[in-house]
Amino acid sequence: MWLIANFKDNFSTTEVLDWLGKIGPKLSFENKVKIVICPDFLSIEEIKKEIMVGRYPILIGAQDLSPFSAGSFTGEESAEHLKQFIDLVILGHSERRANFGETDQLIREKTKRAVDLGITPVVCVQSNETPIPLECKVVAYEPIFAIGTGVADTPQNANEVAISLKKQVEGVMEVLYGGSVNAENIKAFMEQENIDGVLVGKAALNTEEFLKMLEVCNEL
Ligand code: PGA
Repeated sequence: MWLIANFKDNFSTTEVLDWLGKIGPKLSFENKVKIVICPDFLSIEEIKKEIMVGRYPILIGAQDLSPFSAGSFTGEESAEHLKQFIDLVILGHSERRANFGETDQLIREKTKRAVDLGITPVVCVQSNETPIPLECKVVAYEPIFAIGTGVADTPQNANEVAISLKKQVEGVMEVLYGGSVNAENIKAFMEQENIDGVLVGKAALNTEEFLKMLEVCNEL
C-alpha cells in the first residue's frame, strides 16, 4: 500500500523542510504503508539529506523527469541526475498534460527513461482509456474532475476502473487512486480490493491531516 504526497509547486524548500520536521520524527518503521513525498526539484537534495540524517521511513519521488539523457537540454532534469536522490517519479499528471502539452508518446519516453535508470514510474491515467506505457508497474487513476476540487470519485467506481486497468496489462500492476483524497475518505479508498494506495495533493500539505491519513492507513 502506498501513501504518496504530491506537493506540486506549493512549497518552498523551507516549507518542505518544515513539513518534514513535523512528520519525520513521528513515523515508525511499523507503518503499513510506503510513504512517499514528492517535492519540487529544488528541494529534493535537501530533503534527501534530512531523511537520511533523521533515518525517516520516507521515500522520495520527483514530479517529472526529462525524456532525454543528461546533456544540452535547457531547463530539464535527467533521470541520471535525479537517480541518486529519488526512488520514484510521477509521470503524466493531468496538470502536465493540460499545462505543458505532454502527450501519451512523451509520457511513454519518460517512463522508459525512468525504468532504464532504476526509478519506479507512477504513471497518472485519467480514465481506463488512457494508454499505459509498457514498462509501467504502478499507475494512479486520477479523474480530472476530482483533482483539487474537493469532489472525489466514488471508491466503488475507482475500484471498477482499477479492475479494468489491471486487465489491460500482462503481469502484476498496482493501481493507486488520486483526486481529492483526505482524512475523511481515505479509508474507503484504501479498503477497495483493487486499490493499492493513494496519491494525495492538497490534503497532504497539512501536516495534521497527513498524520490523520497515516493513522487511518495503519488501522486498516
Ligand atoms: P488533490 O491532488 O489531492 O489535491 O486532488 C491530487 C493530485 O493531483 O495528484
